[in-house]
Amino acid sequence: MTIIQLLHSYWAYFTLLILAFASLNALAGYFGNKEFKLSKDLRISLFALIFSHIQLLLGLILYLVSPNALAKIQSSGIGELSSFERLLALEHPLINIIAVTLITIGWSKHKKQQTSKGKFGKIALFYTIGLVLILSRIPWSIWFD
Ligand code: HEM
Repeated sequence: MTIIQLLHSYWAYFTLLILAFASLNALAGYFGNKEFKLSKDLRISLFALIFSHIQLLLGLILYLVSPNALAKIQSSGIGELSSFERLLALEHPLINIIAVTLITIGWSKHKKQQTSKGKFGKIALFYTIGLVLILSRIPWSIWFD
């Protein structure tokens, strides 16, 4: 494994943990009608955003250097990929770019909200959808190898 594969693989643990935590925190805040606190709720959401962006950046670099991603598409052609090769080279990267975009949209939308409920609502909606998308396209079988 190259250093960038290792980083992308290990950083994923932190990203998923904090993203799950931020989503649950926002859902609890929304449905529990809690006050959105800068010291806690803003911080958790911001950490999840930053961790996701670092994961995205590592993924983009990995996409260019890994033999399983762009290089695979170039050598085999998209139509010739097996379903697992397609997951690594196409579905995982594409869906995760969309997921991090949604998380970023949620972050900027929450800032425009005036009420605690509104803020929690935007984070809960966009972060949870992002998380579900990410989880739907993790190559689980190689992650725990
Ligand atoms: C944002 C959330 C993301 C998470 C949580 C995530 C997580 C993971 C995990 C757990 C693996 C398996 C690593 C292993 O072999 O141990 C992996 C592989 C991979 N990821 Fe991501 N990833 C994300 C985003 C991205 C993005 C945006 C790209 C590219 C644009 C990308 C490109 C890749 C590639 C090419 C592989 C497999 C190829 C290889 O291992 O050489 N990832 N990712």
